[in-house]
Amino acid sequence: MIGRIDVHSHLLPGVDDGCKTVEESVACAKVLVENGYTHAFCTPHIWQKYAGISRSSVPLMCAQLQKELDAAQVPLKLLPGGELNIFLGVDKTPADEIVPLGLGKYMLVDIWAATLPPFFEEAVQWLHAMGLEVVLAHPERMRAVQDEPDLVDYFQSLGIYLQGNLQCFADEPDAHTRKCAEKFLLDGKYFMLGSDTHSPESIDGRMKGLQRVNELIGFAETFVLTRDNPQKLLPEAFL
Ligand SMILES: [Fe+2]
Repeated sequence: MIGRIDVHSHLLPGVDDGCKTVEESVACAKVLVENGYTHAFCTPHIWQKYAGISRSSVPLMCAQLQKELDAAQVPLKLLPGGELNIFLGVDKTPADEIVPLGLGKYMLVDIWAATLPPFFEEAVQWLHAMGLEVVLAHPERMRAVQDEPDLVDYFQSLGIYLQGNLQCFADEPDAHTRKCAEKFLLDGKYFMLGSDTHSPESIDGRMKGLQRVNELIGFAETFVLTRDNPQKLLPEAFL
């Protein structure tokens, strides 16, 4: 049975700024299961400073962590993926280092910018030309979007899917992140919501955000964003 599917997580231990140890990964996975998750894409940062993230290595790392989850009897099915940072020159990234969700056709990307740089649109076109769909992680966390929320309409005009971060719904009520996230949620801008889990210390706040989403749009709509739409990203091999 498929429950919630986390489309964004840094569960793989010791590969980026996410979970540091297997114990941390297992602890986070348990919390996800307690909140109705049955699947999680492991999406380590694809940054130049984190070596070794590739289409061949991530599935192996997922399989290793899966063994640990199975041994600990944590029923969370892990799927490979990556979070590709958009920077000037990203289009020189070797093909093997572009790791789409489930190795399918949806690529999770992030960008940090106070104003949107011209190379962003070029990078999106470069990914589209490879036959990939682009999923932009947590637009509400980007300064450029906080200053100009209508940018999400521009993103959608480029064919980009938007993924909101659960944590932002539990930020302080007057935080830019929360105000943007709640607006985009109520305006129906998000295609999916992800936990972006990094550590046991922060996961409770992320799950509080999930409860807040339930309050804002109800359980059924929350399931659309945390189960039904994410399920569309699962390649058939994983169904
Ligand atoms: Fe992330």
